[in-house]
Amino acid sequence: MAELVPPHGGGELNALLLPAEQRPAEIARARDLLQVPMSSREVSDVLMLAMGAYTPIDGFMGEADWRGACEDMKLSSGLFWPIPITLSCQRDLAEKIEGGDEVALVDGESGEILALMRVEEIYTPDRKLECEQVYGTVDRDHPGVKNVLDQPEFNLAGPVTCLSEGVYPTEYPELYLRPAQSRALFIEKGWSQITAFQTRNPMHRSHEHLVKIAVEVTDGVFIHQVLGKLKPGDIPAKVRTEAIQAMIDNYFVPGTIIQAGYPIEMRYAGPREALFHALIRQNFGCSHLIVGRDHAGVGNYYGPFDAHQIFDTISPDALVTKPLKIHVTFFCKKCHGMATGKTCPHGESDRINISGTEQREMLSKGLEVPIEFGRPEVVEILRNYYTTLDHSNDRS
Ligand code: ADX
Repeated sequence: MAELVPPHGGGELNALLLPAEQRPAEIARARDLLQVPMSSREVSDVLMLAMGAYTPIDGFMGEADWRGACEDMKLSSGLFWPIPITLSCQRDLAEKIEGGDEVALVDGESGEILALMRVEEIYTPDRKLECEQVYGTVDRDHPGVKNVLDQPEFNLAGPVTCLSEGVYPTEYPELYLRPAQSRALFIEKGWSQITAFQTRNPMHRSHEHLVKIAVEVTDGVFIHQVLGKLKPGDIPAKVRTEAIQAMIDNYFVPGTIIQAGYPIEMRYAGPREALFHALIRQNFGCSHLIVGRDHAGVGNYYGPFDAHQIFDTISPDALVTKPLKIHVTFFCKKCHGMATGKTCPHGESDRINISGTEQREMLSKGLEVPIEFGRPEVVEILRNYYTTLDHSNDRS
């Protein structure tokens, strides 16, 4: 039987969602507890805890784990953990909570009760230190940094019991695979070496090339997309899913790809987030993670291959899942094919490079997108989306 990588920490998956039959009574009980509203990032973390994607942690981090994750990428237990998982709270609410109290964790936008937490610790994190260590900048223009700096001043910490998986399982019934399910699927297919492709974009030929390299060297690829909140201007998950499916159906050998989605919200922490993405994929059962150019980056905050290099700085036993490092990919006119910065000797001017903004302009103005850049089946879906979007902007 196929052997998969073990969950992070080497134990069993730790999914914190309560069995369905026990939830209604606990939700009713939670209504009478103090309600702590969560930001969209905190909601996404609760959903990740619910499904076992953050195995082995069992809730929001206390100060020692928060500091360890920020400064040394380690929890106080010594376990590798490169991004702090924390829950913030306003002063007026924090003042009503005593150590040991149970509180209800509520989606700040929808009001839905998502979890219970036994508060073991209330502390004030140094948010600037968190930004410097995790994001490498304190610039508020960085969307992840802005989120941290704008957080309320206290953090609440303690073990969490999840009472709901929110809206994604209903919105994306086929895509929403929990780690136990992806593992079962890999075993059913007889795969043991699986590469995850993390993405928040529809797939162009550069992405296709990355994934094809992975298909060549492992048993199959798990195209694993972000369902959580994105930056303004990013393509919504529904459109992206359709575009990715068009790519899979038309350009991949049947049976070599699984498309799935998970409820994380991007932090755009570049290299640190690449490590975190590998940790999470280990829980999903993937042995490798594609790390290409500027993985999980934003703007010009990180060098194009900082996310490659950071994997060389961690101890070899920190993660079982390894990066599949791939240089920048593009179509080269002289090679007359897809190539990478490592395989193509020609110059910048021979490469077909189109930025997101240029592509959007081409699509919404009805201009042709070069076939060397995007597959027609995918481009068509994006063109429809941008056309509707532009018309809806006209009306607003
Ligand atoms: S993100 O999570 O890294 O922000 P994105 O969809 O932008 O998602 O990229 C997915 C993966 O493809 C990342 O590993 C990224 O480094 C890689 N990637 C995207 N475009 C290219 C490219 N042209 N060349 C090499 N790698 C790329």
